Amino acid sequence: MDFKIEIAKLLAAAAEISVEDAAAAVEIPAKKEMGDFAYPCFRLAKVFRKAPPMIAAELIEKIEKPAFIARMQVVGAYINFFVDKSVYAEQVLSAVLEQKESYGKSDMGAGKTVVIDYSSPNIAKPFHVGHLRSTVIGNAIYKIHEELGYHCEGINHLGDWGTQFGKLIVAYKKWGSKEAVEKDGIQELMRIYVKFHDEAEKHPELKMDDEARLWFVKMQEGDEEALTLWKWFYDISIKEFERVYEMLGVKFDAYTGESFYNDKMDAVVQELKDKNLLKESEGAMIVDLEDKNMPPCLIIRKDGGTLYATRDITAALYRKKTYNFDKCIYLTALDQNLHFAQWFEVIHKMGYDWYKDLIHVPFGLVSLDSGKLSTRHGHVVLMEDLLNQACAETKRIIEEKNPNLENKEEIAKQVGIGAVIFNDLYNTRIKDVVFSWERMLNFDGETGPYVQYTHARACSILKRAGETDFSDIHFEALSDEASLDVCKLLEAFPDKIKDAAAKLEPSVVTRHLVAIAQAFNKFYHDNPILSSEPEVRQARLAVVFSVKTVLKKGLALLGIEAPEQM
Ligand code: ARG
Repeated sequence: MDFKIEIAKLLAAAAEISVEDAAAAVEIPAKKEMGDFAYPCFRLAKVFRKAPPMIAAELIEKIEKPAFIARMQVVGAYINFFVDKSVYAEQVLSAVLEQKESYGKSDMGAGKTVVIDYSSPNIAKPFHVGHLRSTVIGNAIYKIHEELGYHCEGINHLGDWGTQFGKLIVAYKKWGSKEAVEKDGIQELMRIYVKFHDEAEKHPELKMDDEARLWFVKMQEGDEEALTLWKWFYDISIKEFERVYEMLGVKFDAYTGESFYNDKMDAVVQELKDKNLLKESEGAMIVDLEDKNMPPCLIIRKDGGTLYATRDITAALYRKKTYNFDKCIYLTALDQNLHFAQWFEVIHKMGYDWYKDLIHVPFGLVSLDSGKLSTRHGHVVLMEDLLNQACAETKRIIEEKNPNLENKEEIAKQVGIGAVIFNDLYNTRIKDVVFSWERMLNFDGETGPYVQYTHARACSILKRAGETDFSDIHFEALSDEASLDVCKLLEAFPDKIKDAAAKLEPSVVTRHLVAIAQAFNKFYHDNPILSSEPEVRQARLAVVFSVKTVLKKGLALLGIEAPEQM
């Protein structure tokens, strides 16, 4: 039963308006004293030609109180409804008990495809904390959409093509060695890459940038030496990335990076020409975007090299053809806003009306106490080190709190990594994320460990209770405020998933989980469970079971594990 709709039906009948209109106006009051639901009568003033408080008074007379409503009252222009707590508990808990892990699932996305482009680190540069955000937000958006019945395609648009490989080849030829790269992998690649930038800056007369561009052009033309080196750098990088994805529990449906589009760009450039969109400018080819108040979108450099945007345009056309997506979502930091706005506009100018289904989802930066993170100058915090540190710190805390816990190592991993992910998904994505171990790993804060701990607590209560039969529950045992608060949050959970998808904002789910955990801990504090009378005990255990189920599900949607003990 959907309480909101049932209340809307009562109002619709009394006011002689449509149920949709009534439902659209039903509110959930911020203050509990104002009821569980409220209906403001302002919008009826025009029709009734009366003052809203009078309308409220007249309407309430016409409504016959159904069993699920305990009480109705008029306050000013509002009609407030107080639900019957045990009927409410019955409705909500029966749904969770019956649907279990499927509670929250929907088929609203059936038949629709969403392409999600996330993580997409750059090869030969290490996977740093900046890429963490794209990875975890993208992963959560993927899971949330899947839950709603969408077909998802997760794509890792690796930065594996472009002039930076020319630079790397030049650097390798000047200062690199096979042994060093084989030994230190990406660290060594990064070292020579950084050296390239330093030297190129110090010695502009060497024209190292031009040399690098020539190597990239060679790559584009299929030069064997260039491609062999490139492939070698690629394999080394992928191995490193995969280790990090494994730790994070993130998977992709395709690793189609920028290089994948090398042989597909000519046709797109030709199409741009045919559509009269390509213009020459200082030897380069551009699409003019002056009418949109944007700088031109560079398509081909004057040395013939293609660009990041050229590959994004080509990739979008390829994805539309391959997946026929309803939405194609890109996750990057907000400093790429202009890049996406520009090439989305190019797709628009090419005459594709699906340009409006391309969605750039930007997010804020990550910082550590040591300041901003960069790759250029080598002061970069590697993702793998950071995750290892999270696990080590967590292990130390568990060692203190629960020294006898079995498989501490595994649980420290689930909690440590979960803490990092949760921290990242806790605020609206546009906000910057600050890494503070102390805050992130606080078992009592608004954190991953707190939610996981609450889940583990629920598991332990259920375990101590032993096998419980949840048929014929005496829901009247749940007529206290704390139980009602938990039930309300459980009831709202499916809508939160939808809301998170609509806003492309996993923090909606993250915050809701914290609210459920807090309400549950209050419920647990106020209500003895195992020591109470059998009927009360069974009803309260049903709350525990439902909370456990929803927390686990919510964490899974965020890409976080839910250990049963910690
Ligand atoms: N490789 C890029 C970076 O690290 C992100 C790529 C995002 N996806 C895309 N289709 N442009 O900045």
